Amino acid sequence: MGGADAGPCRLTVCRGCCCGTRKKVPGVDHKAQLARLSAVEDHLGRSVPVRTSKCLGICFQADVVVVQPSREGRAAGGRPVWLGRITEDEHLEAVDDWISAGGPGLAPLPEALADHVTSKDAKKPKKPKKPKKLKKPKKLEKLEKDKKRKKSEKPRGPGKSKKDKKSNRDEKSKKDKKSKKDKKSKKDRKSGRKGGGKG
Ligand code: FES
Repeated sequence: MGGADAGPCRLTVCRGCCCGTRKKVPGVDHKAQLARLSAVEDHLGRSVPVRTSKCLGICFQADVVVVQPSREGRAAGGRPVWLGRITEDEHLEAVDDWISAGGPGLAPLPEALADHVTSKDAKKPKKPKKPKKLKKPKKLEKLEKDKKRKKSEKPRGPGKSKKDKKSNRDEKSKKDKKSKKDKKSKKDRKSGRKGGGKG
């Protein structure tokens, strides 16, 4: 076994709590992708060892794949390259092409992987905060509530409410009673006068 045989590129494929799971990355045949990566050979025709690992700590980038440089690549300044969101076949093809060309340190990173470079220290991007509602001053709030309430109330015409109708009825019956009383007293007076004339 020559020196070169001892140091091909190596791949670490995360298969922890999220990477490789349908729950986190649905619609992907993870097993087939792992098999695809296991078939990769480097520029010297050496098969590339693939190791699956537990969670690498950046689940938001699932699926995560780390490409380790070959011995020659490392000697040329190549360092392990962390790739995130490796879910499409084109990503796997790009990894294959890269390693076939020599991998980190020996061949430039394929363009298809440029947006996928990440690191073990990558921070999960924070969700944008919803803009806070400005609190209205209490006085203004009360005024607006009153306005709304007044608008929602139906305008009442004069004497239309039950109370008004009742008071109208009361007034009318009072008037009737009074006029009846007046008529009666007039009648009494008249009859009194008549009676006096006869006597
Ligand atoms: S499961 Fe892959 S980074 Fe956590």
